[in-house]
Amino acid sequence: MDTTWPVILDMDPGHDDALALLAALALLPVVGVSVVAGNQTVDKTFLNARRVLAMAGQSLPVARGYAKPLVRPLRTAAHVHGASGLDGYAFPPLPEDPAPLYAMSWLETVFSAQPHLNWIATGPLTNVAAFLLGHPHRRHQVRRLCIMGGALSGGNITPAAEFNFYVDPEAAAIVLASGLDIWLVGLDVTHRALLPASAIDRFRELRPPLGEMLWSLFQFFRHHEPHSRERGTPIHDVLAVMALVHPELFEWRETPLTVVTEGADRGALKPTDAGPPVHVAVNVDVDGALAWLDETLQRYRP
Ligand code: BDR
Ligand code: CA
Repeated sequence: MDTTWPVILDMDPGHDDALALLAALALLPVVGVSVVAGNQTVDKTFLNARRVLAMAGQSLPVARGYAKPLVRPLRTAAHVHGASGLDGYAFPPLPEDPAPLYAMSWLETVFSAQPHLNWIATGPLTNVAAFLLGHPHRRHQVRRLCIMGGALSGGNITPAAEFNFYVDPEAAAIVLASGLDIWLVGLDVTHRALLPASAIDRFRELRPPLGEMLWSLFQFFRHHEPHSRERGTPIHDVLAVMALVHPELFEWRETPLTVVTEGADRGALKPTDAGPPVHVAVNVDVDGALAWLDETLQRYRP
């Protein structure tokens, strides 16, 4: 995979989104971030993306995306990420946003300037679906779309559904049917690659104040993430970055998938005969993933 193409991140930070953002910044030519409502309202995810970028010393564009899913009310994950969406650390105040960017027009500007892009989406797929619907001629420019979302079995917000796909199942179904080169990382693998407390403690060795920020955020997250265990905490969204950079650290299945939009199974992944095949991760090299993350974060050492 050519990872030299510019990368767009679409996210709803979120603790694991924040870690994914830092990993992507360390490894990839990120051109900016569009934020979406999900873990918290879009005003909060917008602020959080700007906060993390500022802590990383980066001034990339952050564009505000959809404030609610395509056709239904927003359900947030305050029980996992707190009232701010990024509880656990007292961020310093940020200056006013000087020139507000709106995701649909910002994305169009980015696509018109770049022949090809890679895309990483780690929140509800509202922005991605809306952009693809509104700009169908841009599809061929997307080299690869790596997504954290869904689960082949089980869920984390209902027994059947993963949070991102549950929040906006219509958007997820649109994206999976788009025919893009999609690499989907769901709970089947993110619930395996758990980050041990010792690895979280190593965040403190990163440069100040970034290291302290990350460590404090993950003290909160490890106590609130529902699948967090004695042996470790899921780092869901980070694995979507790894899927772009090191797809060989996963085992993939290629199959057409759609998303249930109504009823008790809303948000669940479902096999279909109708759509194009997507790559879905069915296994992950856990030691390889943790070593990759540790090595990636070394870029933030003092
Ligand atoms: C997903 O839900 C969110 O809470 C996380 O940020 C991640 O994207 C995991 O189900
Ligand atoms: Ca997320």
